[in-house]
Amino acid sequence: MGTPILFDNHGRPLNYLRLAVTDRCNLRCYYCMPEEGIKYLPKNELLSFEEIERLIKILAAMGITKVRLTGGEPFVRTDLMRLIKKIIGTEGIKDLHITSNGILMAPYIKELKSLGISSVNLSLDTLDANRFKMITRRDEFAKTWETLQALIENEIPVKINSVVMDGKNSEDILPLVELTRDKNISVRFIEEMPFNGEGSHYPKLNWTYQKILNHIQSAFPSLQKISDPENATAYHYQVPGYRGTIGIIAAFSRTFCGTCNRIRITAQGVLKTCLYDDGVLNIKNLIRSGKSDEEIKQELLFAFSHRAKDGVEAETNRKQHPKVSESMSTIGG
Ligand code: GTP
Ligand code: 5AD
Ligand code: SF4
Repeated sequence: MGTPILFDNHGRPLNYLRLAVTDRCNLRCYYCMPEEGIKYLPKNELLSFEEIERLIKILAAMGITKVRLTGGEPFVRTDLMRLIKKIIGTEGIKDLHITSNGILMAPYIKELKSLGISSVNLSLDTLDANRFKMITRRDEFAKTWETLQALIENEIPVKINSVVMDGKNSEDILPLVELTRDKNISVRFIEEMPFNGEGSHYPKLNWTYQKILNHIQSAFPSLQKISDPENATAYHYQVPGYRGTIGIIAAFSRTFCGTCNRIRITAQGVLKTCLYDDGVLNIKNLIRSGKSDEEIKQELLFAFSHRAKDGVEAETNRKQHPKVSESMSTIGG
C-alpha cells in the first residue's frame, strides 16, 4: 500500500511531526528560558514511550513520514535510544531526525549511525566558549564541539542552529559562515522568537533575516543563492568553493507558512498545528481517557482541517495565553 497523503484545510500536505520528548534541559539558553529555569512537568505528565509509540503508529498510518525528536534536550530523557529504535522501526516512518544541544550525545553517535538516523540539528549559537557560557549559562562548549566533530566523522548530516541576538552573538555570524569552508555542514541563522518563558522579554527583532543576509553579503560579496529543499524553513546560500551551506530562517517574520508541512506534539502531549498557536488538542487526555485509535484519528483529522493559514493567524487566535511567552523547551522549536 502506498503512503497516504494527509492535507490540511489550506491544501498543504502534512507529513512532518516534531515531537518534544521532555521539557527538561541541561542548558538555560537566554532565548529559551529564564536563568532560574522553568517549572518542569512531573514525570507522569509526559507521554510515556508506549503512548508515543501508539501515537506515531496512528499518525504514520495517516501520512506522517518524517519525525523530529526535540525537547527540551531529548537526551535528558532516560532511555531515549529505546524510543528511537521503536520509532525507526515503525511502518511508514521513513526519516528520524533529532534537534539537540549535543552535550550528552557523543556516546550514542555510532549507534545512531547504525540505526540509520537521517540527520542531527545541533544548537550552537557561538564558537566562543565564553559567549557560549554567557548565552547558555553553562560551561559546556567543549562537549557540543566534540559532538559536532563526531557527527561529521560518522557522516551523519549536521545542521548548526544559531539564534542571532543583538549584543550577544552577532559577532559570531561571520566565523560560523567560515565554518562551512571545510566542513560539509549547513549553518543556519535563526531570527529570535519570543518563546523564552518570560512575558517580559518580547524581543524587538533587530536581526531580521534580511539584516543577517546583508551582513553576510557584505563580508562575502560572492555569496550565492542556492535552491531550497521542498518545505524548508531556511533560505539557502553558499560561498562559492566552500563545502558547506548557509541557511537563514525567518522564524519570527514567518515568510514560509505557505508550504508548512509540520505538526507538533509538546512535552505535555498537546497537539499544535502551528508553532505560534497555544495548543489545539490535548492528545494525552484522549489517550488516558481510553479513546480508541479510530476516535483519536478523528479528533486529529478535525484539528488538521481547522489549521490557521499562517503563524500570524495562529498567534491571533490564541485563547489561553494571548501573548507568546512559553519556553521553547516545552515546544521543541
Ligand atoms: P528541518 O527542516 O527538518 O531541517 O528542520 P527544522 O529546521 O525545521 O528544525 P530545527 O529543529 O533545527 O529548527 C530550526 C529553527 O527553525 C528553530 O528555531 C525552529 O523553531 C524554527 N522552526 C522550525 N519549524 C518552524 C516552523 O514551522 N515555523 C517557524 N516559525 N519556525 C520554525
Ligand atoms: N527563538 C528562535 N529559535 C529558538 N530556538 C529555541 N528557542 C528559540 C527562540 N526563542 C531554536 C534553537 C534550537 C531549535 C529547536 O529552536 O536554536 O536549535
Ligand atoms: Fe507553519 Fe506556523 Fe511555522 Fe508558519 S509559523 S511555518 S504555519 S508552524
